[in-house]
Amino acid sequence: MLKDSFGREVSSVRISLTDRCNFDCIYCHNEGLGDTRGPLDPQTDEISTEDVIRFLEVCEEFGINSVKFTGGEPMLRQDLEEIIRRTPQSFEISLTTNGTFLPERAQALADAGLDRVNISLDALDRDSFAKLTKSGAFDKVLSGIDSALEAGLTPVKLNMVIFRQTAGFIPSMVDFISQRDGLHLQLIEYMPELTGNSDWAIKISDVHDYFRSRADRVEQRYMHSRKRYWFGKGMVEIVDPVGNSDFCSNCHRVRVTHDGYLKGCLNRNDDLKSMGEMTKQEIRDALLATVSERVPFYGAYLIKNEDGHWIFNEKYQNSTGDRKPYLYS
Ligand code: 5AD
Repeated sequence: MLKDSFGREVSSVRISLTDRCNFDCIYCHNEGLGDTRGPLDPQTDEISTEDVIRFLEVCEEFGINSVKFTGGEPMLRQDLEEIIRRTPQSFEISLTTNGTFLPERAQALADAGLDRVNISLDALDRDSFAKLTKSGAFDKVLSGIDSALEAGLTPVKLNMVIFRQTAGFIPSMVDFISQRDGLHLQLIEYMPELTGNSDWAIKISDVHDYFRSRADRVEQRYMHSRKRYWFGKGMVEIVDPVGNSDFCSNCHRVRVTHDGYLKGCLNRNDDLKSMGEMTKQEIRDALLATVSERVPFYGAYLIKNEDGHWIFNEKYQNSTGDRKPYLYS
């Protein structure tokens, strides 16, 4: 097992297979890189099938046993089934998708070895969905959810980003997931760190209060520092990373960008490390360097000043990343 200098073991990787997306969600941080999207056709800078597999084989050597494929929209990759089929057996494999292409491909993904999916769904109302995602694919996504359930990609977790524009849809989403077996709801606190619009954020403690007063049962998952609320068969999980040093101290994940750079923290883009030509030795070296330089974002990279505000910790301001950080306006 790989351990960073804060004692955090790295047990999972999140690989962005493309930054292309057929949606344009107003809140999207694109895996912490901001809006890097180009045309929807396949791009030459994308990490290749072979490189993804070689990377995962190295991860396996270090005992990493869980992988999440994401994007952009990962289902825009036509080789997704092949990647999943060739992922080492020891991995639990999940996918984060907007769901549009699941009606045609959920079964093929399950046959290839995909274990489960997260599907982004922020509203159950067609017009609001269109405004939030700039897409008219609402019906496709709903039938994508059905296809994922039918293909056994369970639990199917619906990802809902919670901010001003979506908070009002929480009750209808809870209703929706409690009607079917195998559906979970994952409420994700809006993260303004890389996207701006911090005025869209709402107090996530109010959301916890709302659920605490209604749930049949509450469960704290210490490993993930996430709370789960049960409603009969339905389960709601709240992911609240903003300003949460407990969340960061429980982070066990390393990321790979769509163009094949290692990234130790979602909220940072000054630590991107090249894996060279992707020989196994270069991958091992870059992975070890990334892990050894991993720093909890809230609590170490950012620290609280006397007034209780988060400020940059001088100690970590001379980054050693290989790639020029994406600049946010
Ligand atoms: N804040 C919180 N979650 C976000 N996601 C994307 N951008 C943000 C953001 N700014 C999450 C959504 C989506 C997944 C791909 O990433 O949950 O489903």
